[in-house]
Amino acid sequence: MNNSPQTPLPVQTALAAARETFGADHPLLAAWAPGRINIIGEHTDYNDGFVLPIAIDKVAALVGAPHADSFDVRLYSAHFHQSANFSAQQPPTHSAPQNLPLWARYISGVVAAFHEKNLPIHGFSAAIAGDVPLGSGMSSSAALVVAAAVWLNTAFSLQLSATQIAELAHNGEVIGSGVRVGLLDHLASALGRAGSAVLIDCRSLEYRYIPFQMSAVTLLSCESGVERSLATSAYNQRRSECESAVAAFSAALQSEQPQRAITALRDVTEYDLLRIGGLIPEIPRRRARHVITENARVFSAVDAMENNNSPILGNLILRSHASLRDDFEVSCPELDVIVELATHGGAYGARLTGAGFGGSALIFAPDSAVAAIINVLGGEYTQRCGKQSRVHTVAPAGGPNSAWL
Ligand code: GLA
Repeated sequence: MNNSPQTPLPVQTALAAARETFGADHPLLAAWAPGRINIIGEHTDYNDGFVLPIAIDKVAALVGAPHADSFDVRLYSAHFHQSANFSAQQPPTHSAPQNLPLWARYISGVVAAFHEKNLPIHGFSAAIAGDVPLGSGMSSSAALVVAAAVWLNTAFSLQLSATQIAELAHNGEVIGSGVRVGLLDHLASALGRAGSAVLIDCRSLEYRYIPFQMSAVTLLSCESGVERSLATSAYNQRRSECESAVAAFSAALQSEQPQRAITALRDVTEYDLLRIGGLIPEIPRRRARHVITENARVFSAVDAMENNNSPILGNLILRSHASLRDDFEVSCPELDVIVELATHGGAYGARLTGAGFGGSALIFAPDSAVAAIINVLGGEYTQRCGKQSRVHTVAPAGGPNSAWL
């Protein structure tokens, strides 16, 4: 993070709102963090697996001032035109929301996460704005909690690393929202680098940047227009099913290989699946098959990116979608139609991205096919699904930043 960055538009919006709401007579600190699109590695993060996301050039921003001698937190959302106040000593949580709206509980959750780690913070006033589309599968919530963690880190001179910021932001989101999301979104946002995807091991949190330099290709994200109303309960259910799969594989392998520790689906191999998959009940077996094959696809995708092989990367993306649809069962008819139309329009590949059940699809296409794909997603998608899609061009963008204004 440096002190003279280019500030994105939401920073200007939050700055104007902060001046109007809290007064203009003191220096204001801005922090912002990007949303993300995951190229591949879906529903692998909470199975200690591998992910390959990019940060995108849409951000959430906080602009405000720390309070030297009080624990009062005063927030204003430029998006919802709402204020919310609480004490940093007793931050509201999902289970004790103190009437705070969800957008503000993302921030109070982050404050609670800093508390849990005994990180010394005071109260503050801050206005919030952003241009990551809400509920679209591009991680507007992770952008917000990472921006909040970056803001607190700079305001209270805490010297936290990018990975620590991601972990605090992640805890904050879980505390504030009650959804047991994994670390993918927060790491993708906190580690974002312009021009690169990042390969992350969600067990060790080691990561490696993979330059995205494939020739004559475009990444699109296509919002399906489907509200992810089922997302919370179904997401938590998938996590439990993966835990059941771990227990079942662990029990099945225990007698023949007692020394092997199976603590996550990461520890189960394709060979195990072939050999003893038949002993595992069908649902956990299919959930496990998705996770195990998806982890392998992440590494194949890295190879394809490093070898500038677009057809192979596209094929892996399509296979990821099929596995999410058939084995993990997190797609919906609209996302399947987007994948079908994009492929017919000439894309190398397309797949749902994020949790699924609605939200967005990622489309990976040759530049020459982009106009045709956008066209078909405008017309035929609406005819078949009765919904409007919204297509955005996305490119790997930089991570969070902060600046005194
Ligand atoms: C959501 C969660 C992530 C991850 C994805 C699926 O985006 O927030 O942690 O589990 O779903 O890959």
